[in-house]
Formats: sequence, C-alpha cells, structure tokens
Amino acid sequence: MPDVRQVPTSVPIYQTATFASADAEELAAVLSGGVPGYAYSRIDNPTVDALGDAVADLHGAEAGIALATGMAAIHAALLSLLRAGDRLLIGRVGYGTTRTQARNAFGRMGVEIVEVDTSDVEAVEAALAAAPTRVLHVETIANPTCVLADLPALAEAAHRHGALLTVDNTFASPMVCRPLEHGADLVMESATKYLSGHSDVMAGAVVGSRERVAAVRSAQIDTGATLGPFAAFLVLRGIATVAVRMERQARTALALAAFLEGRRGVRGVTYPGLPSHPQADVAARILDSGGAMLAVDLAGGREAGRVFFDALRLPERTASLGSVHTMVVHPPTSSHRALGVEALAAAGITEGLLRVSVGLEDEADLVADFGQALEAALAAVPA
Ligand SMILES: Cc1ncc(COP(=O)(O)O)c(C=O)c1O
Repeated sequence: MPDVRQVPTSVPIYQTATFASADAEELAAVLSGGVPGYAYSRIDNPTVDALGDAVADLHGAEAGIALATGMAAIHAALLSLLRAGDRLLIGRVGYGTTRTQARNAFGRMGVEIVEVDTSDVEAVEAALAAAPTRVLHVETIANPTCVLADLPALAEAAHRHGALLTVDNTFASPMVCRPLEHGADLVMESATKYLSGHSDVMAGAVVGSRERVAAVRSAQIDTGATLGPFAAFLVLRGIATVAVRMERQARTALALAAFLEGRRGVRGVTYPGLPSHPQADVAARILDSGGAMLAVDLAGGREAGRVFFDALRLPERTASLGSVHTMVVHPPTSSHRALGVEALAAAGITEGLLRVSVGLEDEADLVADFGQALEAALAAVPA
C-alpha cells in the first residue's frame, strides 16, 4: 500500500470491497461497531461515508447516508419506518416511481397506501385525521407540476397526529430548501440530479438525526442498495460546485419563466420564483430561490406540446433533471404516454405540460430557443 503522509485534497476513491483487520479481536470490534473502522463495503466505505457526511452538512443534519440511487434512498428510508399494518400518506402528484414503489414494495407487504394532494394542507389534515398514520411523504417541489409542500404546516399536522414527515427534496436541492429546518424527520435526495449535476452518475442520500439515519443504514445493509466508491467520488466532485450551479440555473430559470409567462400560446407557467406561483407565500417561507425547475402549460394541448418539444434545439430531450444541460420532457407524449386524459389530470398533468430543468446554457440563447419552439407550436396549433 502507498505510504501517504500528506492529506489528499480530494476524497480518495477506496475502490475495495473488503478491509482487512490485524486480528480476530479487531475484526470483531469493527464488525460490531465497537471501534471505528471498515470491514466490507456493503456495510460502509470511506468514500461513500464522506458523501453521506457532505450531504448531511449541506442540510445541517446530524447524519447522512449515501445509497445507490434516489429510489434506493426513498426505499431504505421508508423501510426503516414502516411495518405491516401501518398507513402511508403519499402525494397524488409527484414522481411516479415513488408511488409505484409505495404500492409494489410496501402495499404488497401490508402497508396501507393513501394518495393525497400534498399541496393542500387541509386535505392532508383530513387524511391524517381519518386514521392513524405512520408516515406522510411529500416532495418539496413536486415532480412534474412544481407545486409546493408547505413543510412547516405539514410537519406540524403530521406530528400532531403521531405521524412522521419524510421529504423528497430532489427538485429543490439543499441549496434551495433544507426541509429539516422546517420540521421534516427524514429527507431524501436523488443525488443523480443537482448534487452531482452532470448527469453522469446515479446516487441517492438520506439525512436526518443520528438515530433515524442509523435505522436507514440497517435497511440499506439488509437490502444492499450500496453506492460504489467511484460514484460517490463523482457526486462529491459535483457538490463542490452545486451552490454556483444552482445560483446561475435559478437566475436563468426565472428569466425563462418570466419570458414564457403571459405569452401567446402559453396557458401558464408554474415556477416557485414567480409571484404568480399559486403558493408564492409558501415559496417565500421555505425556499431560498425558485430553483431551476419549471412547468410550462401550452394552450394548444398535446399536439402543441409535441411540436414545441421536437422544435427545441438546445435542451436535451430526456426525462431526467438537475444537469448542467437544460432538459425538457413532455410527459403526455413520453413518460406518461400510457395515461389517458383523466389519469393525467389526476396526476395534475395537463396535455400541454412541459417540464423544464434549466441548465447552464447562455440565458439569451435559451430564451431565443424557447421562443422559436413556441412559434413552431403556434404555427401547428394556432392559439
Ligand atoms: C423527485 C424524484 N425523486 C426521486 C427520483 C429517483 O431518483 P433516481 O433516479 O436517482 O433513483 C427522481 C428521478 O427522477 C425524482 O424526480
């Protein structure tokens, strides 16, 4: 092994599955957690631990753990809290795979799954009052509609009814919102998105109190959704620039939202940084900026959305988000193609809805590109 006396300025990639101990006594002590140390990378690994600690720091949390993906983070967090017979309240609007996971991984094991509009505190309050609930799970900024969860009000209501609040903060990132400051019990991030920022790695993280994160780690050790050390290194590298990326991306997102709002052919723009956001008061209380996600509803519906989407030149046509590249998705003709109008409406998705994740491109270039795509949509479906 190299004998390195100086401190490396990047976290080294501990690309190893195993760590050898000096003797049986040390191995037993490390495995039992009696002394600090490493034995096996599914249990923990220094590079992966450094990422968990970094995400905890960004959130002002006592502890954090990094996992294989955002879905692994949500799964391990919920698994640490839920038992058969428990009730889980989850957003009707939000990332579809989270609802699928709730139904497939937890519903089949005897957890009651109830969907509710988490942007409506009264509706959540009524659902909490209807039956004892273990967990209320929300998204700070909901995918794909960009409606908000009023975290302080929801945390207060959940705790009053004996429930815990878990928050998926992926659309916001810790640069825009730190839900633990608003009463959340556990916070998850898909680090695939803003934290890594370059769309080249999959990862997830959970932060919270030492005790709750230890329970999440137990769930992760059992289920094996382990992050590799190289992936952890890439996310750590992304974290070094997340503050400046988000600042610039949020500024461009605001300019793009302001450009599109009120334009012919645009029915509405939902962006948490616009005064017209239906929950602008919530945004002012819990967000540091509007972030870089916006939902644009085209007046011309499905066909206008399709033409607009295909006419864009700068953005990547892909279903992910949080990258240095602007990414656009038209859910009705791509990710949610299988859904009819009613099912789309139930998920808060109109036929002309485009979800935009604003990247680092030049603001004027991006605005011009969206302008020409809007003209193309208007030519195909006049408003
Ligand atoms: C809000 C939200 N949560 C969680 C995830 C899942 O993250 P991952 O793809 O890293 O598993 C996504 C992915 O798009 C998402 O948008």
